[in-house]
Amino acid sequence: MPRALQTAIWFGNAQWMQDQCARRFGETFTLQILNEGAWIVLSHPDHLKQVFTGDPGVFHAGEGNQILLPVLGENSVLLLDEAAHLEQRKLLLPPFHGKRMQRYGELMAEVAAGEIERWPRGEPYALRPRMQALTLEIILRTVFGLGEGERLEQVRAELRRLLDIVTNPRMMLFPALLGPRRLARMKIFQRDVARADGPIYAEIAERRSAGDLEKRDDILSLLLQARHEDGSPMNDVELRDELMTLLVAGHETTANALAWAIERLIRHPDKLDRLTEETRTGSTEYVDAVITETLRLRPVISLVARRLTQPVEIGGWELPAGVTVTPSIYLVHRRPDIYPKPERFAPERFIDNSPGTYTWIPFGGGIRRCLGASFAQFEMRVVLAELVRRRRLEPARPEAERVKRRAITETPRRNPEVIVK
Ligand code: HEM
Repeated sequence: MPRALQTAIWFGNAQWMQDQCARRFGETFTLQILNEGAWIVLSHPDHLKQVFTGDPGVFHAGEGNQILLPVLGENSVLLLDEAAHLEQRKLLLPPFHGKRMQRYGELMAEVAAGEIERWPRGEPYALRPRMQALTLEIILRTVFGLGEGERLEQVRAELRRLLDIVTNPRMMLFPALLGPRRLARMKIFQRDVARADGPIYAEIAERRSAGDLEKRDDILSLLLQARHEDGSPMNDVELRDELMTLLVAGHETTANALAWAIERLIRHPDKLDRLTEETRTGSTEYVDAVITETLRLRPVISLVARRLTQPVEIGGWELPAGVTVTPSIYLVHRRPDIYPKPERFAPERFIDNSPGTYTWIPFGGGIRRCLGASFAQFEMRVVLAELVRRRRLEPARPEAERVKRRAITETPRRNPEVIVK
């Protein structure tokens, strides 16, 4: 199929395309994507292990993520490789340590409760936009440590505006056609990014001169105190790029994962009942299984990418330097040899069964595994608990939601409508 057509189908329905290819060509196949070159899609756990444990100097993830450059900027941890990547990752890791999550828990519960209490009752209600507002609020407050006020409103409004532009499916054609570097240089695009950057830089400047950094828990305050190996602090552009990375990587993904969890639960009332019951007793075993199963069955990102800097042999295939290997999250999660009846939503699979390192990969793997994985799962747990404690949801329509692509995430096709009881 011509490269342009493959690209169009990929952006239209990536999961359907992977299903079709896997059926026709087997567990390993090649896609040709505009501005990306060849993607070697992999879905055997041994092949995924080889990629995730491979030399980061050979498997370049930063190069594979260049599509995000126009928004995230050159210093983003997502876009760097090798020593530069490790350096930024080390600076970002401490705020995401498990213990710190507990402290963010209270804030997450407060924001979730406020949001849920505002939902109207008895009439169909679109869920995904509400989840997006909720996760944006949580990430804004944890990242910036801002309370209600003008600055929070500015950052929220400008970021929402920018994200609406870049998650518009038609906008995604531009990076595909022009390539991310040319898009980043376009004046019109630079203006949109600059508008969102304004309040972020203003907050960085004010916070730099704040005297109470050590007492603050938010991520910006922690990053302002972090030091490079040579003892130097992060500069403003580095801070802006990493803050933008956390905001962008952290909210749309989690919003979709939550929308999918609720979409699956309300169509399985027995499982919703069990979740409600167990939440009441204070147990987190079932909610964790629900989250794990949702991320298996409806992964919000379909695949991850590593561009090869040297030839590599994987599964008997000789792959040349320059091609991109793309472990498919979607396909490995649908393997019937690992997950019997893979189409079924069955959180019970994960009770007393930990997910496998190379068979459950919604957060990618290896040295590039999602920095916010614990944050996202913790947030999902808190939000689902607040929800089932406060409200009973039912689907507005009986049929299951189909998957639709929004920029790089996989979302419910229509906004799943719910009725709040
Ligand atoms: C359900 C929610 C989320 C999903 C499904 C998700 C998924 C992913 C995936 C697939 C990757 C690429 C991993 C790879 O290449 O192997 C990634 C990377 C990343 N994610 Fe997430 N993510 C989520 C939430 C978050 C949150 C809440 C944050 C931060 C607040 C975050 C920050 C990051 C960062 C910084 C990276 C880059 C890591 C690196 O390159 O070293 N993510 N995420």
